[in-house]
Amino acid sequence: MISRRLTLAFLAAAIASPLRAMTRPTVTAHRSPTCGCCGAWANHLRRAGFPVTIVNEADLAPVKNRAGVPEALQSCHTAFVEGYVIEGHVPVEAIEKLLAERPQILGLAVPDMPVGSPGMEMPDTKPEPFSVMAFHKDGSLTVFLDYPEGYRKPA
Ligand code: CU
Ligand code: CU
Repeated sequence: MISRRLTLAFLAAAIASPLRAMTRPTVTAHRSPTCGCCGAWANHLRRAGFPVTIVNEADLAPVKNRAGVPEALQSCHTAFVEGYVIEGHVPVEAIEKLLAERPQILGLAVPDMPVGSPGMEMPDTKPEPFSVMAFHKDGSLTVFLDYPEGYRKPA
């Protein structure tokens, strides 16, 4: 009986790990249909296992305002995952950290469009340093993740 139970436990563990990877929450990304870097960012998330739904918007300003994205942090696309707002070229590692820690914030943003950030890769161009900012309900901002050397995919 023990060996059968062990086999079942082993099977359950073997099934559970790919399932966990498959059940990443869907990211809904609002973007302007003419923006190419938004699609490249969506593919960065898809490669990490996040399903991404794209919503084309003629005007993104109302979406950003409704989401509470501070003006100083606004970028191209505005995305939503598990009740959080994701503004601009936020690396998937920051989103994974956000979903693991679940802080009491509105969301994360990478202002501007730093060269080398996910979706903004440019061959033969040095990646720009940038920070992923957290924006809070009271309007304050804090640094969530820092990329002083620019974005590099973790090995
Ligand atoms: Cu962009
Ligand atoms: Cu974009």
